[in-house]
Amino acid sequence: MKILGSYPKTRLRRLRKSSWLRNLVSENNISNNDLILPIFIREGKSKIEPVKNMPGINRYTIDKLPIIMNQAKKYKIPMVALFPYTPQNKKNNFGLEALNPKNLVCRAIKLIKKRFTGIGVMCDVALDPYTSHGHDGVIIKNKIDNDATVKILVKQALLQASMGCDVIAPSDMMDGRVGLIRKALDQNDFHDVSILSYAVKYASNFYGPFRDAVGSKSKLKTNKKTYQMDYRNFSEAYREVGLDIKEGADMIMVKPGIIYLDIINKIKNNFNVPILAYQVSGEYSLLKNAINNKILNENSILESLVAFKRAGACAIVTYFAIDIAKKIRSIN
Ligand code: PBG
Repeated sequence: MKILGSYPKTRLRRLRKSSWLRNLVSENNISNNDLILPIFIREGKSKIEPVKNMPGINRYTIDKLPIIMNQAKKYKIPMVALFPYTPQNKKNNFGLEALNPKNLVCRAIKLIKKRFTGIGVMCDVALDPYTSHGHDGVIIKNKIDNDATVKILVKQALLQASMGCDVIAPSDMMDGRVGLIRKALDQNDFHDVSILSYAVKYASNFYGPFRDAVGSKSKLKTNKKTYQMDYRNFSEAYREVGLDIKEGADMIMVKPGIIYLDIINKIKNNFNVPILAYQVSGEYSLLKNAINNKILNENSILESLVAFKRAGACAIVTYFAIDIAKKIRSIN
């Protein structure tokens, strides 16, 4: 890019002199339309249970789900993402509770679709909340078996779609699952159910608090490096995204968020599909704890989210969704 002008004729501070002017020339912004709210759900009645290490984040029993959904509605959050905390006695190697039409996610989708019609529902396709070993797939001969897992994932996706889920989000990182899920959805007349593929999901150390929240952390004895991406790599991300788009992904997720802004930006510049990003649980905990301890001020949340937009994400899954939507509303 050519540099035009020079000091003293050009003074870049001129356009920073007042708030209205900075607003006028701002290149990126965040609105409530860019936010996706993750919600943890659990069995039982009348419980709102705090999640360890994620101050302000709770698990809701289905009867209490309207409390958080009313907030989402009030602050005009376009979509929520559901994550279940499955009772231990319902977990097994095959994660079969994922296919139970009365499982937590199915009941939650039904409630939301009935009582909160204007809000989209997105569901993870992966087995980790349901397996006795905490992995996203089934273990056969000591390995996470790709093709056996995909067969179950296709059924999981179909079940979610039949309950009314709008956006199917495979976060399992098995090969070939997007194509098979798309095919099954189409064969069953779910042409309008979209697929948001977690195509670029790194084997990250920043998922810890989430794993506690869905109850898989204590189960997990090994890491997820045989299926999630190696964080030393980038060009592999192009291959993942390219394959998933070919297989029928409508949108692409990059995850984690803040320390992967380079990846978001490169994918955005090379593929013409909507790119979403996930500000994951570890990132939330770091920031939230620093704010609670008065090490950082609250505006750091907004700064972290605008960074995603600057990098090229069209929307962000973030545990700060309600906080920030509230704040945006009070600014406008
Ligand atoms: C599981 C899944 C994970 C997250 C979303 N879906 C964890 C993992 O892969 O171990 C992480 C979200 C977060 O940390 O906030 N498929």
